[in-house]
Amino acid sequence: MAGIIVETPRLQLMQLNSNAEGSVHLDLFHNVWRDKQATQWSPHGPCENKIASQAWMAGVIPSTTADRSGERVCYAVLLRQNRPEVKGHGTVDDDGSESIGILTLLPSELIKEGLLGSPKINDASRAIGLELGYLFLPSAWGKGFATESIKALLEHYFSEKRKSNPQVMIQIQANVHHDNVRSLKVLYKLGFSTLETVVGEDVVFIGGASRNKSVVKLWKAL
Ligand SMILES: CC(C)(COP(=O)(O)OP(=O)(O)OC[C@H]1O[C@@H](n2cnc3c(N)ncnc32)[C@H](O)[C@@H]1OP(=O)(O)O)[C@@H](O)C(=O)NCCC(=O)NCCS
Repeated sequence: MAGIIVETPRLQLMQLNSNAEGSVHLDLFHNVWRDKQATQWSPHGPCENKIASQAWMAGVIPSTTADRSGERVCYAVLLRQNRPEVKGHGTVDDDGSESIGILTLLPSELIKEGLLGSPKINDASRAIGLELGYLFLPSAWGKGFATESIKALLEHYFSEKRKSNPQVMIQIQANVHHDNVRSLKVLYKLGFSTLETVVGEDVVFIGGASRNKSVVKLWKAL
């Protein structure tokens, strides 16, 4: 049994915290990370089998050996229409084939105060820096699912953190290749701003073509 943590009108977000062999959490993760198109903008690329997904997933779920482990979060995005009988809680298909996307928040450094319009942080002990990651199966693209699920995740995360620290300030960062227009559109719709764009001279195969290595760094304060 895995708990549904966040719901939107069309989606359910299930927190994943186990990469153990045979776990539904691993299946949900692998269902998306094995897809070539979903992972086309990731320098890591697809996970060829569950063992590869198990190793990759270890880097995004809480772990006793990781720094700031409690700030690592990984969610599978599920379509509610596939689960009409479920009202808030339930199980997923045994093979974990219901996931359409994966969202992650991972600890990152705070953007330095004053850098290109970044917010002033008066008390660093109250500020948390996180990096957002997301990918969806191609069958789910263009329907607003990324925007809907990320918005719900950020609202949920912020309200949970605020319960224990009412003054908390969260900086969410995202790094996107400058040719990944779909992804940039999602972030701009969610209110992210560009911090800087770095275009390198090295050419890499990413997003289905040879492209200059580049990154648009974006941020949003919660
Ligand atoms: C990027 C990604 C998450 C977007 O998911 P999605 O559910 O399709 O996103 P949304 O439907 O919420 O929004 C997509 C936006 O891109 C637009 N779009 C779709 N296809 C496009 C295209 N070929 N060129 C430009 N814009 C496009 C959509 O119209 C929409 O914008 P709009 O609401 O202004 O019309 C998804 O395409 C994906 O998983 N890609 C591969 C992984 C990836 O790139 N992850 C991000 C790495 S930084």
